[in-house]
Amino acid sequence: MRVLIAGAGAIGSLFAAYLSNVVRVCMLGREWHIGEIRRRGSLIVLSPDGKVIREVKDVDLATSASEISGERYDFVMVTVKAYDTSSILRELEEGDVRGDCYVLMQNGMGNEEDALRVLGDVNLVRGITNHGAYIPEPGKVVHAGVGETVLGPVAGKHAKKKTLEFAEILKKASIDVQVDHNIQKLVWWKTVINAAINPLTAILKIRNGGVVVIEDVRFLAERIIDEAVEVARADGVDLGDVRSDVFRVAERTAKNMSSMLQDMMRGRRTEIDYINGAIVRKAERYGIDAPVNKAVWKLVKALEKRKELVELFI
Ligand SMILES: NC(=O)c1ccc[n+]([C@@H]2O[C@H](COP(=O)([O-])OP(=O)(O)OC[C@H]3O[C@@H](n4cnc5c(N)ncnc54)[C@H](OP(=O)(O)O)[C@@H]3O)[C@@H](O)[C@H]2O)c1
Repeated sequence: MRVLIAGAGAIGSLFAAYLSNVVRVCMLGREWHIGEIRRRGSLIVLSPDGKVIREVKDVDLATSASEISGERYDFVMVTVKAYDTSSILRELEEGDVRGDCYVLMQNGMGNEEDALRVLGDVNLVRGITNHGAYIPEPGKVVHAGVGETVLGPVAGKHAKKKTLEFAEILKKASIDVQVDHNIQKLVWWKTVINAAINPLTAILKIRNGGVVVIEDVRFLAERIIDEAVEVARADGVDLGDVRSDVFRVAERTAKNMSSMLQDMMRGRRTEIDYINGAIVRKAERYGIDAPVNKAVWKLVKALEKRKELVELFI
């Protein structure tokens, strides 16, 4: 059994480390990270307090699809940011690197459509994970938080069977996993949680708790949620009392900085196009207004470009 990790950054390296105990893993990632693993001869997994939990020696490594041209994998696990889904899959196609099944282990909505546009008729599985990971320095990954992973079939004749097969592999690798045959509801749910917390915390540079305790921020979060719930309903998904869930998550993670705020602080592109942007695109398809989602989407896009714009005009 062979698994390709397409986009071995934080979450990809973490899964690579666990999976390498039970299957043959190849990590495809950037030179600064993969090169260091190559030089040292191992990928190191650290606990949040810096202790070495695992040293992974037996993995294949690649920094471009051309290095693994012609290879066939049982599963290709896609762990790039949502906006890089099309480009990495196109590179794999052009390099004649193929999988029997593709597993998108990412946040956001719209990446499944991107994947199917590039790959055509393939077995596609969606994964949502609550594990947390980050790369403190090249060649190392911190397992920052333990959580559940849920898998569900999206497309393809054998997607259901492949979902069960991949769940078994994750279980053998000691990853807590559930199978949900209606994964779209969970994808929507997670997207709404992110849509309400991420842009507001990123624009205002506040920690997650601010969404609960600052009345004006809470007001905006509620508008984002209400709009999204209406779009989800048009999309055939009843999200129930997701409003309470959002504020419960924001309270539980009150001291955390959202991933979008962290991306913004590092000057990195955010996943907003696949969160509020995806909600707005679906709203437009159904003829629904989603003005607050659109406003925060555009504000975050403007902030992403602020540095270069300031350099251009001021
Ligand atoms: N980290 C977490 O704790 C966590 C938890 C749950 C879900 N997620 C989700 O998981 C996804 C990945 O997040 P992440 O934090 O792991 O991101 P990440 O650390 O940025 O990892 C993605 C890696 O893939 C690389 N990459 C992109 N295109 C590539 C290509 N064509 N060939 C080789 N490498 C390529 C990126 O390099 P460049 O940066 O140079 O493009 C980056 O190193 C996101 O959707 C995120 O929301 C993350």
